[in-house]
Amino acid sequence: MLSPYYQTANADFTLYQGDTMQLLGQIDKKIDMIFADPPYFLSSGDDCVFNGTPIRFDKGSWDRKATPEIINNFNKSWLALCREKLKDGGTIWISGTYHNIYSVANCLTELGYKILNMIVWHKPDAHPSLTVKLFNFSAEYIIWARKSEKPLHYFNYELMKSLAGGKQMQDVWEIPTTGTWEKTCGRHPAQKTLRLLYRILLSCTHEGDTVLDPFAGSCTTGIAANLLGRKFIGIDQAEEYLQLGIRRRKEIEDKVTAEKMLRKMSENPEEVTVLVNHARPETRRLMIEKGICYLRAGESEGSLQVTPGFEKMRYVLLHTNGDEAQLFKLKKAGTFQIWTKETLQAHGFNPEHATYYIVLPFDPTPIEYKKQPNIKQRINTYRAKIRPLSDFIGIK
Ligand SMILES: C[S@@+](CC[C@H](N)C(=O)[O-])C[C@H]1O[C@@H](n2cnc3c(N)ncnc32)[C@H](O)[C@@H]1O
Repeated sequence: MLSPYYQTANADFTLYQGDTMQLLGQIDKKIDMIFADPPYFLSSGDDCVFNGTPIRFDKGSWDRKATPEIINNFNKSWLALCREKLKDGGTIWISGTYHNIYSVANCLTELGYKILNMIVWHKPDAHPSLTVKLFNFSAEYIIWARKSEKPLHYFNYELMKSLAGGKQMQDVWEIPTTGTWEKTCGRHPAQKTLRLLYRILLSCTHEGDTVLDPFAGSCTTGIAANLLGRKFIGIDQAEEYLQLGIRRRKEIEDKVTAEKMLRKMSENPEEVTVLVNHARPETRRLMIEKGICYLRAGESEGSLQVTPGFEKMRYVLLHTNGDEAQLFKLKKAGTFQIWTKETLQAHGFNPEHATYYIVLPFDPTPIEYKKQPNIKQRINTYRAKIRPLSDFIGIK
């Protein structure tokens, strides 16, 4: 029997060290979902100059350029092994660039998988290209495929829709590259960002599902899976990377760190936001009656700071000291008016503190939502807060 290189006490994080081609077939478990970030075969090993500094373009021997035949044989072998491990209706995601992704797509079709989507992961903060003879590389491609034509797979359409601000989620995803906040335990030359795995895992798995990564590297898939209550099995040939994965897994044993990682991982630059605003009961009632919400304009604590990203604001949550919270849709996304105290008084309000107010008109029909973050504050003056919309729904 195959013995793990590492396993947590509750077996929610299991690692095997060695060649995926030899180990995959021996894994005695059916898998709900596979994420694979295989070699792209793009490292040339050549020296080049980047920003005036000589560097070697080399992720490791596992990523060396190869002939189309070698790339095809490699992809076909591991994809065939993965298919045997997948449950019926299970799905697989494979990342790549033009160097490997066409081969992956062809192999998937030949092996009987059904391709569902080809996601374009656009990285808005991609590094500048090493050459001035080409467009900058700022995307990777991720193929999502089902084990076979039938049975159907699971897709959390509603959750993806809410992450996309209430519209059907499209297949171009704007997600920044791996941040320093997720590299606290060391570096892997091809580490994926947790934010990518967060979206992938939520889109097609349930809590308690088992997720496999046959090229686990620093175990990004495993960390995201465990943070979201999914079980993980990872394989990598490099002990050095598995050790990094173990350090990352130990890091999230600390509840505060896990909470912080989960919050960072769920941040989504595309996601719309909610203005969380406190008002006294009589003011709150009048705001709902008139369909306008207001805050002081200026530097004081109860005012709203208008920073870049404000245009993503689509909702307002009105509450009184954390109670009686109701969510409403703003009439126009990301715009506001400035009213004087007198104008507000003419509308029946009784503003006390300032000369100018930021006014946001909203549709007074409340919107249902499953959960909300803690909005109680211990201080007297409530700060208006901007929160991501995903704070107001369940993530199961
Ligand atoms: C692109 S990296 C994966 C990075 C990973 N997604 C992460 O976030 O850290 C590919 C990994 O596959 C491993 N690898 C390459 N060929 C392998 C093989 N035949 N068997 C097992 N691991 C392999 C490499 O050691 C490398 O860590």
